[in-house]
Amino acid sequence: MHVAHLSLTDFRSYASVELGLEPGVTALVGPNGQGKTNLVEALGYVATHSSHRVANDGPLVRQGASRAIVRCAVHRDDRRALVELEINPGRANRARLNRSPVSRPRDVIGLLRTVLFAPEDLALVKGDPSERRRFLDDLLVSRTPRFAGVRADYDRVLKQRGALLRTASQARRGARSGRRAESDTAFAAAGAGDVLSTLEVWDAHLARHGAELLRARLELIDALRPLVAGAYAALAPTSAPATLAYRSTLSTGGDGAEDEVPGERGSSDAQTLSTDLGKTLEERLRERLLEVRQTEIERGVTLIGPHRDDLILGLGELPARGYASHGESWSFALALRLAAYDLLRADGGDPVLILDDVFAELDTQRRRRLAEIVAPAEQVLITAAVDDDVPAELAGARFDVAEGSVRRVR
Ligand SMILES: Nc1ncnc2c1ncn2[C@@H]1O[C@H](COP(=O)(O)OP(=O)(O)OP(=O)(O)O)[C@@H](O)[C@H]1O
Ligand SMILES: [Mg+2]
Repeated sequence: MHVAHLSLTDFRSYASVELGLEPGVTALVGPNGQGKTNLVEALGYVATHSSHRVANDGPLVRQGASRAIVRCAVHRDDRRALVELEINPGRANRARLNRSPVSRPRDVIGLLRTVLFAPEDLALVKGDPSERRRFLDDLLVSRTPRFAGVRADYDRVLKQRGALLRTASQARRGARSGRRAESDTAFAAAGAGDVLSTLEVWDAHLARHGAELLRARLELIDALRPLVAGAYAALAPTSAPATLAYRSTLSTGGDGAEDEVPGERGSSDAQTLSTDLGKTLEERLRERLLEVRQTEIERGVTLIGPHRDDLILGLGELPARGYASHGESWSFALALRLAAYDLLRADGGDPVLILDDVFAELDTQRRRRLAEIVAPAEQVLITAAVDDDVPAELAGARFDVAEGSVRRVR
């Protein structure tokens, strides 16, 4: 697939810009802060409905404007789709497909698929578990757009269950503290009964959506494992092998405190997570929720579920996080993205590859390796501050980006 046209209104620094694109390699070159990343960020947004740079949508709207519009024409074989997203921070986004409104924005997920490499990717290796959970879940959604719904359902249940736990936790603290009339205590006790039965309902929902997400993540990791190992070995041939493991609150204490060495307890799969024979992940999740219920009510947070899990990256016997060198961390982050690219490609059709400012970060050898790997893709978009940061293997079309305008020069 490739993007034939991108059009932005009030997106980031652009009041309005039109960009015609072709298959093959396109480089966007210009000095710092001129709006190169803003262009590719918009494409990434169309693919995933989130930005790789910010957690909420506010900064995506041009200062002073109230909403941003991203429109792009996607060509896939002989099919054409015009996808339009209206970004309304704090309110629901709106989407149109071929100029007709769709009922939910997530209905247009999957029409454009991208794999975006960016300096922020280092956080996949060095950052919090939430970075790696997002990597997995974004990839799940790209491969199977239906998971956008599963993820939204899970988040909704988590939020509502969390609100209930906080209420319970406050009620309990209230009941314990101070001198209360007996009738007050009786009232609190009656309220607690309500809370417990409501909690049971939410436990069931959490376990159902959680198990679906968990199973999908575990299957995804199984598929990624050989691809990541292969890509990492190609980028860093002298390093220890790259490994992937999943740490789940199903098998750990639930406080997420311990760090596991991959290959030992960390190598969880669906089988080992539902340890007792015959139990499904959903049943195990419900059991674990019951086990930690007291603690959850004390602390007012949901302690069990995929929102507390982590993808453990290892190099040989050591975890990458906290141990890997800067160069090793970079290679690992690239290997994760390359593996995602391989998977999406195997599912059918080349995703659009976006390399935001990555070559400047790499030594000559890894630059060349990465360039060789990405060169055959149907469409590759590269941003760079100077021409020298675009490898010779990736010669193609070229745009100058400066002072808010984008001009084709080759
Ligand atoms: N919501 C916004 N409204 C107006 N301007 C914005 C907004 N968000 C970002 N900008 C401006 O966009 C510019 C950054 O653009 P971008 O990140 O695309 O730069 P770049 O060309 O990729 O630079 P670099 O080479 O440093 O990565 C900054 O000058 C920033 O002030
Ligand atoms: Mg940039």
